[in-house]
Amino acid sequence: MDLQIGDLLYKGKAKDVYQTNDPELVIIKFRDDITAGDGKKKDKLTKKGYYNSIISSKFFELLETSRVKTQYIKLLEPGLMLSHRLDMLPLEIIIRNIAAGSLVRKFPFKSRQEFEPPIIQIDYKSDEYHDPMLNDDIILALNLSTQEELKRIRAITLRINEVLKGFLKDKDIILTDFKIEYGKNYRGEIVLGDEISPDTCRLWDAQTFDVLDKDLFRKGESNVMEAYQQVASRILNSEDKNKWNLNF
Ligand SMILES: Nc1ncnc2c1ncn2[C@@H]1O[C@H](COP(=O)(O)OP(=O)(O)O)[C@@H](O)[C@H]1O
Ligand SMILES: [Mg+2]
Repeated sequence: MDLQIGDLLYKGKAKDVYQTNDPELVIIKFRDDITAGDGKKKDKLTKKGYYNSIISSKFFELLETSRVKTQYIKLLEPGLMLSHRLDMLPLEIIIRNIAAGSLVRKFPFKSRQEFEPPIIQIDYKSDEYHDPMLNDDIILALNLSTQEELKRIRAITLRINEVLKGFLKDKDIILTDFKIEYGKNYRGEIVLGDEISPDTCRLWDAQTFDVLDKDLFRKGESNVMEAYQQVASRILNSEDKNKWNLNF
């Protein structure tokens, strides 16, 4: 059966999700839109969708080889990711190796303080309620997931962190923290969805501590795309670069 793109299922702040003629498959389109501060700060950055989709697929491929179940099937072309359709849980799973961002604003942690083991934080993914932080009792009372699923989500998240942290360390990048989203596939299994990119991770140069992620946009810096390109350049091997015609 030839794959055909179908109706738009969902238009988010940075990506569109399209149905396909196979009910189990969706196409995720990575757009150039970038937002911060609860959607209040907005812009369009040329080629952001292109780079984020390539970076995300690299991470998903790496996780698949490390036996983490993800939505990922393949990148049809830069910007368009063929994925398993998931029933998304309205949870933002954040894992932190080093204190930064809202954690330092909300709690008396020292900036750059290291966490071993890492801290897992779960926020309610809701534009209406402005993504408040959850705890297990609230998650269960709101029926957002079960205790069993939460346990599984925590275990997979720690595994993902270990895989990505080690991979990035070799590329001289510190994985400070990141946000992921899970959904359930048609079998009811918990599967990693959405994206893993400089939009959703804090990535610091291991030598200079230069920021290589969306914090540059939050701070109004002009070199956002240079940083995203730098991440792509460091994590892709020459075979990947040839495949996507990247010459850097
Ligand atoms: N595999 C998937 N199947 C269905 N929906 C998904 C999948 N992966 C991600 N999504 C959802 O698609 C949307 C992606 O677009 P995005 O711009 O990130 O939206 P948002 O503004 O809600 O964060 C998100 O709401 C995300 O939960
Ligand atoms: Mg999103």
